[in-house]
Amino acid sequence: MKNLKTVLYALKETSIYMMGIVIVTREDNVIVIDGGRREDMPSLKECINGRHISAWILTHPHEDHISGLVHELETNGAADFDIGTVYCHFPPYDEIIDNHNVPDYDYYKRDLDEMLPAWNKVFPKIKDRTHIVTQGESIIVDELKIDFIYTYHEGLNTNPVNDSSLVFKVTAPNKTVLFLGDLGAEGGDMLFRESRHLLKADIVQMAHHGHMNVGMEVYAEIMPEACIWCAPDWLYNEAEIPEYLSNTEKLKRMGRLRLYGSGLTRKWMDILGAKTHYVTGEGTQKIVL
Ligand SMILES: [Fe+2]
Repeated sequence: MKNLKTVLYALKETSIYMMGIVIVTREDNVIVIDGGRREDMPSLKECINGRHISAWILTHPHEDHISGLVHELETNGAADFDIGTVYCHFPPYDEIIDNHNVPDYDYYKRDLDEMLPAWNKVFPKIKDRTHIVTQGESIIVDELKIDFIYTYHEGLNTNPVNDSSLVFKVTAPNKTVLFLGDLGAEGGDMLFRESRHLLKADIVQMAHHGHMNVGMEVYAEIMPEACIWCAPDWLYNEAEIPEYLSNTEKLKRMGRLRLYGSGLTRKWMDILGAKTHYVTGEGTQKIVL
């Protein structure tokens, strides 16, 4: 054993509302979750500090989560990182891109096009080190157990990429942490229906940076004592219904009526009794697990 404690770092954003999390194990290996954009790579590298990455978990293919790694793979095959295994389960682009039976095809296509083609292009460089996660699977990394609770579900088409987010629970020696990625309302409904009994955790990574996310019932099952917000101050302090979510007719057409600002999520967490809020906009958050 090289470290006395298991430590999680939720990295301060360099690029806007990114998500990058590093967990350093007692054996001095790391688990990386997403990582952010190209601009966030220097701080990610600094935090990892050359350690072996036993698991690099990619929640879903959006720029603010995986474009940094994609850039590193494009540049030099991610040679600056000592990657063991990448874990992900992304939507099957070729199979679903021509599905016009969706509420708003333009949005749907734009969403799938944001990162998936770029990822699919660099994928051959990392394929032999990638494991496609199945729901219900568990892995062990040193003293940590990781249970994958939710993966991509076909047919959630209003918010397709966010709703493909991996949901997983990390069980550490003293704390459990549930990661929700950027799961939205429909994905949250599916998670709740299938796996509500698995959600209880001490700490939760707030879905989709805390806004436009899963419903309160999901957080009520988690019943966390602490919340991790990958969010700048303006997002953490956002209104319950911000301007861009005020056009009810438009949201209705897009099937997105159940998406709200962070102000509402914060109200839920207060009602549920969450006491501690780790907000990355205030700097890198260090949490002993
Ligand atoms: Fe995001």
